[in-house]
Amino acid sequence: DKGCGSEPLLAVRAELGECTRCKLSSGRTHLVFGVGSPGAELMFVGEGPGADEDQQGEPFVGRAGQLLTKMIEAMGFRREEVYIANVVKCRPPENRNPEPDEIEACEPFLRAQIAAIRPRVLVALGKFAAQTLLRDPTPITRLRGGWREYEGVRLMPTFHPAYLLRSPGEKAKAWEDLKRVVKELGRTIPGR
Ligand code: URA
Repeated sequence: DKGCGSEPLLAVRAELGECTRCKLSSGRTHLVFGVGSPGAELMFVGEGPGADEDQQGEPFVGRAGQLLTKMIEAMGFRREEVYIANVVKCRPPENRNPEPDEIEACEPFLRAQIAAIRPRVLVALGKFAAQTLLRDPTPITRLRGGWREYEGVRLMPTFHPAYLLRSPGEKAKAWEDLKRVVKELGRTIPGR
């Protein structure tokens, strides 16, 4: 796995193993652990693998992933220098939402990944990431754009890129959220 190149992250990956803790395991091609730099300052958390991610074993490589990569680059980062993971590591059938028991089974591994990476800022992409990490059922439309704290790490909830593909009129709001993240990291947007 290219998403676990540090001792603490390798330990999380090893603990996860050939996971069969929930029913999603039976339908997967690949378990999608995460990708990026174990020393990342910036970490993105999505919902769960889709068909492309399940096939390739890497998060955010399909259409939503291409948009996420563009967003990362617009922020002045390379995809390789951030870290990207999901709430659930195996693809839900027909891309349905992950169910509470599946989230509960997988969540300790997401929390352990974050603890291993210790990013300066977390971006929660969409309601499952935001609500799971914050343990707050407030709708994403109200959570987005406001700084929160997760285990001492600044967390910015924003819209999921798949939602932005369906609702391109909301992209400007997501970009406002990401600009706040860039500023928090003491950087400037490239080209301005
Ligand atoms: N959507 C997600 O939430 N995660 C992925 O890895 C791909 C699409």
